[in-house]
Amino acid sequence: MKFPDQFLWGAATASYQIEGGGLEEGRGECIWHRFSHTPGKVMNGDTGDVACDHLHRYREDVALMSDLGLQAYRFSVSWPRVLPAGVGAINPAGLDFYDRLVDGLLEAHIQPFVTLYHWDLPQALQDRGGWENPDSVQWFADYAALMAGRLGDRVKDWITLNEPWVVAFMGNYTGDHAPGKHDLSAAYKAAHHQLLGHGKAVPLIRSAVPDAKVGITLNINYFDAATDSEADQLAVQRQDGYVARWFLDPLYKGCYPTDIVELVGDALEGIDLDAVRAAAVPTDFLGLNYYTRNTAAYSQEEPLHIDLVKHDHDRYTEMGWEIYPDGLRKLLIQLHQDYAPGALYITENGAAFEDPAPTDGVVEDPERAAYLNAHFEAASQAIEAGVPLKGYFVWSLLDNFEWAYGYSRRFGVVYVDFETQRRVLKRSALYLRDVIQGKA
Ligand code: FCB
Repeated sequence: MKFPDQFLWGAATASYQIEGGGLEEGRGECIWHRFSHTPGKVMNGDTGDVACDHLHRYREDVALMSDLGLQAYRFSVSWPRVLPAGVGAINPAGLDFYDRLVDGLLEAHIQPFVTLYHWDLPQALQDRGGWENPDSVQWFADYAALMAGRLGDRVKDWITLNEPWVVAFMGNYTGDHAPGKHDLSAAYKAAHHQLLGHGKAVPLIRSAVPDAKVGITLNINYFDAATDSEADQLAVQRQDGYVARWFLDPLYKGCYPTDIVELVGDALEGIDLDAVRAAAVPTDFLGLNYYTRNTAAYSQEEPLHIDLVKHDHDRYTEMGWEIYPDGLRKLLIQLHQDYAPGALYITENGAAFEDPAPTDGVVEDPERAAYLNAHFEAASQAIEAGVPLKGYFVWSLLDNFEWAYGYSRRFGVVYVDFETQRRVLKRSALYLRDVIQGKA
C-alpha cells in the first residue's frame, strides 16, 4: 500500500451518536431524542441520552486519538446544543464545548474536520416542518454562518451535510430514522432543501473563513447488476440515480437527473426543480461514505422497480452489508471520471462485527482489521489510478449509538463498555496506528 506524504488519516464520529449529556447544559431537543424516546423506534429502547458520554470525556477521547496517532478527526456539531430552538437564541455553553474540543484537538496536533449536520435537527424546527419547510434553507445557512464565525479561526475543513439521501429518505420515506415519516413527497422536499441549504451555506462559510476548505459528504455504495440482462442493468441505473445522481448532478451540474425526474413524477409536485442550480456552488472536496455494494435486479414493485439481492456467500458484516472492497476502488475512479471533484476524502468507512469482551486490555477484532486493510488497499489503488484522494476517516473512533440499531452494532476501533464508559483499544485500532506510522 502506498499513500502520499500529505495523506490524512483520521477517524469520524457524530454528535448524537457519542456526546450524551442528555438535555444538560442547555442543549435543545433534537429529532433523534424525540424519536429514540418514542417506544418501538430504536432497538432495545436505546437512546443517545448517555451514549459515550463524550461531552464529559472528550479530553480522554482526544488523548486516545493522540495515542493512535490520528492526524485528523471528523466530528459533528449538535445544532440544538448551540441553538436550542434551531434559530434565534444561542446557548453559550454549547459553543464553549466545541471551542474546548477544537482547542484540545489542535494542542494534540489533530486537524479538526467539522460536519455541520449529521442528522440531529432541532425538534423545534421539525415542529415547523423540518427540512420539508423551504425556510429550512435559511435556518441551515444561519446556523452554518454562526459556527464558521465561531470556530473558523481554528477550523479550516468544513462539511455541510452528512448523507442527505439518508436524511431525506430514511427519515421521511422508509421511516426508519427520525422524524419517522412515510411520505415520498416529503422526502423529495427534504432532499431539495438540504441541497439548497448546502448551496447557501458554502459561500457564508467561505466569507467567515478565508482559507476554508468546504465540502459535502454523500453515502454511495458500489452499484452492480444481479445479471447482465437489460432489465437488471436498467435497475442499477435507477438505483444509482435515486441514491447518488440525485445529489451528485445538482452539486456538480446544477440540475436533477431527468431519468429519475420522469420516474418519480407526482412526488416532485410543488418543488421548483430548476432552483436546484443554486446547489452547484464550487466546493473543495467531496466526502464519500463507503461501506458496501448493492446488487440490483428488476422487480415489479413500485415506485422504482428495484430489488436489492443478496449474494450466495457469507462476506457480510453484522449490518448485513456485503464486504466488497474493490467497489471502493471502482467507485472512486467513477466519481473522478464523472464529476471530477477537486479532491476526495473517504469521510467514513468501517464495519460492525460482534466483538468479544476485552481480554488483557485489548479486544480482538480480526474481521474489522481485515475489512479496513482491504479497503485501505483499494483506496491506495485508486490513488495510483489518478484519483485525488486526500484522506481517510475510519468509522468510527468509538462504539456508539448506531441510530435505529441503538448500541447493538459496534463500529468502533475503540471498544466502549457502556456500563462503565471504559474505553479499550481493539486490535483494529492498533492496526490503524501501524498504518499511520507506515509500519503496516
Ligand atoms: C452512516 C452514518 C454514520 C454511521 C454509519 C454506520 O450512514 O453516517 O453515522 O451510522 O453509517
